[in-house]
Amino acid sequence: MELKHWKLDVDADHLAWLRFDRAGSDTNTFSSEALRELGKIAEHLATMPPKGLAILSAKDNGFAAGADIEEFTKLKDPDQAIALTVLGNEVFDKIAALPFPTVALVHGFCMGGGMELALACRYRVMDDGPKTRMALPEVMLGIVPGWGGARRLPALIGAAPALDLMLTGRGVDARRAKKLGLVDAVTPRRHFENAARQILTNPPPRAHPKLAAAITDWPGIRNVVAKMSAKKVAERVRRDQYPAPYAIIDLWKDFGGDVRNVPREHPASTASLFFHPTTRNLIRIFTLQERLKSFGKGGAADIRHLHVVGAGAMGGDIAAWSAMRGLTVTLQDLSPERIAPAMKRAAELFGKRLRQPHLVQAAMDRLIPDVAGNGAARADLVIEAIVENAEVKRKLFAQIEPRMKDGAILASNTSSIPLQELTGVLKHPERLVGLHFFNPVAQMMLVEIVEGPETSAAVMQAGQAFARQIDKLPLPCKSAPGFLVNRVLSPYLLEAMLMVDEGIPPETIDAAAKDFGMPMGPIELADMVGLDIGWAVGQELAKPGTPIPKKLQSLIEAKNFGKKTGKGFYTWVKGKPVKSSAGPGSLDLKSLADRMVLPALNEAVACVRERIVADADLCDAGVIFGTGFAPHRGGPIETIRARGKQEWLRIMEENKAKHGLRFEPDSGWATI
Ligand code: NAI
Repeated sequence: MELKHWKLDVDADHLAWLRFDRAGSDTNTFSSEALRELGKIAEHLATMPPKGLAILSAKDNGFAAGADIEEFTKLKDPDQAIALTVLGNEVFDKIAALPFPTVALVHGFCMGGGMELALACRYRVMDDGPKTRMALPEVMLGIVPGWGGARRLPALIGAAPALDLMLTGRGVDARRAKKLGLVDAVTPRRHFENAARQILTNPPPRAHPKLAAAITDWPGIRNVVAKMSAKKVAERVRRDQYPAPYAIIDLWKDFGGDVRNVPREHPASTASLFFHPTTRNLIRIFTLQERLKSFGKGGAADIRHLHVVGAGAMGGDIAAWSAMRGLTVTLQDLSPERIAPAMKRAAELFGKRLRQPHLVQAAMDRLIPDVAGNGAARADLVIEAIVENAEVKRKLFAQIEPRMKDGAILASNTSSIPLQELTGVLKHPERLVGLHFFNPVAQMMLVEIVEGPETSAAVMQAGQAFARQIDKLPLPCKSAPGFLVNRVLSPYLLEAMLMVDEGIPPETIDAAAKDFGMPMGPIELADMVGLDIGWAVGQELAKPGTPIPKKLQSLIEAKNFGKKTGKGFYTWVKGKPVKSSAGPGSLDLKSLADRMVLPALNEAVACVRERIVADADLCDAGVIFGTGFAPHRGGPIETIRARGKQEWLRIMEENKAKHGLRFEPDSGWATI
């Protein structure tokens, strides 16, 4: 049999070993060609037949990452999407119907279609390493697990836990997978062959869900579970903006989890979902995310020792995150008392993310408090995250540069100070790069890699590779005030605060933004980030003639900085803002949202024109991954395209007439 993407061997014991090895790629994904080949192999094996079949991956990074998303972007019409869904179902059904025992041997990532193939096997064995994860993340792309996952997973582990996995897209490690009944055995990858032999030659009874989980799939209980799940989903997202989670519930409840049963016009059908604007945008964001990742590939950063100066909100969390990702980190501040809270937060982060005590301990051991700053001399990279004041930063640089080893990189986490204002004191300005993280560090994926006029290409590349080394998304940016993300975000926050001055309740402003699709309203966000920080960034970025929000000014004067002081625009109790439940009254949420979002769109247009980032796609990616900007809309530039440039310019003129020159369209609108 001539095979391109798979390798098939049958050994002396009549056991077949099928290795997935997608040609021309270092990651296994299911193109339709790879799927068709698998179908042919299944037909061939059914006629042989061997005593058993083990399916595994020939790639080191994982079993399979799922469907080939690039192929998704080329689907021209619903019929092509349906054909691909049918193909996946037919092929995996052939695997499921094989008349001998089958086992999937899973290491690394096993996502989407990869997990659906594993589910089509009779047994699953999972590697116990920290990088091994199984997930059905289709919901994040706006689609459903359509190659049999939505029927096989509930049958295997029960409907409630299956829905939880499908609706969140969350990955599970081997321990959790075993507990859920998703896998039959857990063992290190090097023991896969033995484990497979044992299972295939002496097949144990097939796994069934425990009664408590099985009940949730019973006809009478189904409606209750579906209702509860839909209610939970509705707390997060709306059906018109994010149809996929609702479609997953419908698919399971009404169509036996089989997409082939869903009528074409139904909102849960392949035809409806694949061509929904949200899905198009989420798939585009996924490909943009891959593009950001690729920026880290041009050369190894190989940072082993990181030294962070400033153990505040940002420096402390950058240090902790990097230690968690395996680096040795020394953390400097003015006194041990200032480092202590960062160490405490680090312990919490490690406990939550690493869970196993020996991993937590190892990460704690890698994070070293260093008041004297001795680590600077040994570090491959020094990141400064002290107060946002150019003079103080220059002073620190003048002290620290002579202590750094040859070839080490110096970075600033500044939010708004152009790098050229910091290089005057440096002997080697070419080794200064901006590494601008976002708050909270553990949740925000993006790092702006800021190129000053003197930054060398090698240092830029190393900065990008470092971001990937610690699992973040690098976005190369030019060094202009606010870089990309804060520059786009600031005028949006400013407009929201000016609305407060006009007497519009913060609750209404936040509701309007959430209605638009923002994960959090601007007023709540400003309170959360810290009004003092917002103020400092705002001052740095304000254009001549920009009005100063009066309410903000009075809060700053009273040292009410938001969440961290317990009072800002809102009063904060137990980490949550206290909001009045009065509705918007006669105010129109849509026009409020338009007014707030427009200054951000205008600034995004300016950033593209000034080439702060290389192109409009990267502008969208940066604003989404740096701020959470309504993902279903695909970012600011896509938002302009979707509603039409002329329509936005018309609204801009209206607002300019009412509110003045801050609504003057940037000259870049002509070419966007
Ligand atoms: P912070 O006020 O929480 O922490 C600053 C820390 O630096 C303090 O612990 C202070 O004791 C220490 N420090 C000051 N001068 C020092 C010196 N000479 N040597 C050693 N330590 C010194 O401030 P935060 O929020 O962590 O900000 C730090 C930097 O990160 C700023 O440049 C800020 O613009 C930037 N940034 C802040 C973000 C935020 O949302 N807070 C987001 C992204 C960047």
